[in-house]
Amino acid sequence: METPHPVSTRTHATSGAEMAPQTAAGKVLWHFTMSLDGFVAGPGHTMDWMTGFSFRPGLVEEYAATTGAVLGGRDGWDAFPDAGAVYGGAWQGPLFVLTHHPEDAPPAAGVTFLSCDAAEAVRIAVEAAGGKNVEVFSPTIGRQLLERGLIDEIDLHIVPVLLGDGIRLFDHPGGAPVRLERLDDGDRTAAVNVRYRPLTTAPSQSVR
Ligand SMILES: NC(=O)c1ccc[n+]([C@@H]2O[C@H](COP(=O)([O-])OP(=O)(O)OC[C@H]3O[C@@H](n4cnc5c(N)ncnc54)[C@H](OP(=O)(O)O)[C@@H]3O)[C@@H](O)[C@H]2O)c1
Repeated sequence: METPHPVSTRTHATSGAEMAPQTAAGKVLWHFTMSLDGFVAGPGHTMDWMTGFSFRPGLVEEYAATTGAVLGGRDGWDAFPDAGAVYGGAWQGPLFVLTHHPEDAPPAAGVTFLSCDAAEAVRIAVEAAGGKNVEVFSPTIGRQLLERGLIDEIDLHIVPVLLGDGIRLFDHPGGAPVRLERLDDGDRTAAVNVRYRPLTTAPSQSVR
C-alpha cells in the first residue's frame, strides 16, 4: 500500500504552469495530493490510487527541506504507523499525532501523541518546526484549523483521477462556502482550467 505523503517520489519535467517552489517560513500548510474530485484518501484510507502520476523535478526535496514538523490525526497514523516514511524517507523530524486517547497509542520514535485542542496542537508543532513549515496531514484537523484562521496555505497537487469515494479534503455538509485566493503573481481570483480525457475510453470510440 502506498505510504501517504503529499508528493510522489516519481518526478519528470512538467508541461503545465507550476507554482513557485514552496518556501520555509514558519507557515502552517494543509498539504495533500488530491484526486480531481477532491479526495485525499480512498475508502478505508487506501492510497494505491496515488501511484503512476508525475510531479515536477525536485518536488520531494523541496518539501522535505521546507518542512519542520508534521501534524496528523490518529486515524491516518493508525492506518500508516511509520514516522520514517514521510516523503518516502526523505524527511525526518518531529511528528505530532492528535488523539482523544493517547494512552492506547503504542510509542513510536519521533512521534508525540497530543490530546488537546487543534489550535494548541498546531502551536506546539510550529514551535517544534524551528522556523520551517508545519504540514498538516489531516483533513479533519485542517478543517478545525481553517475554522480558527490557523491555516496559512492550502497546497495541493491535483492528480488526474476520479475516486468517487473516500476521505475528502474538506467535508463540511451544511457549512458555508470558504472563499480562497490564488498564491501566485497572477489574478488571485483566477479559475484553473484542466483538460483530461478518460483513459478507459479508446480514442477511436470517443464521441467528438
Ligand atoms: N493524499 C495525501 O497527500 C495524504 C497525505 C497525508 C495523509 N493522507 C491521508 O489522510 C487521511 C487522514 O484521515 P482523516 O482526516 O479522516 O483522519 P485523521 O485526521 O488522521 O484522524 C482523525 C482522528 O484524529 C483525532 N483528532 C482529530 N481532531 C482532534 C482533536 N481536536 N482532538 C483530539 N483528537 C483529534 C481523532 O482521533 P481519536 O479517535 O483517537 O480521538 C480523530 O478521530 C489518511 O487516510 C491519510 O493516509 C493523505
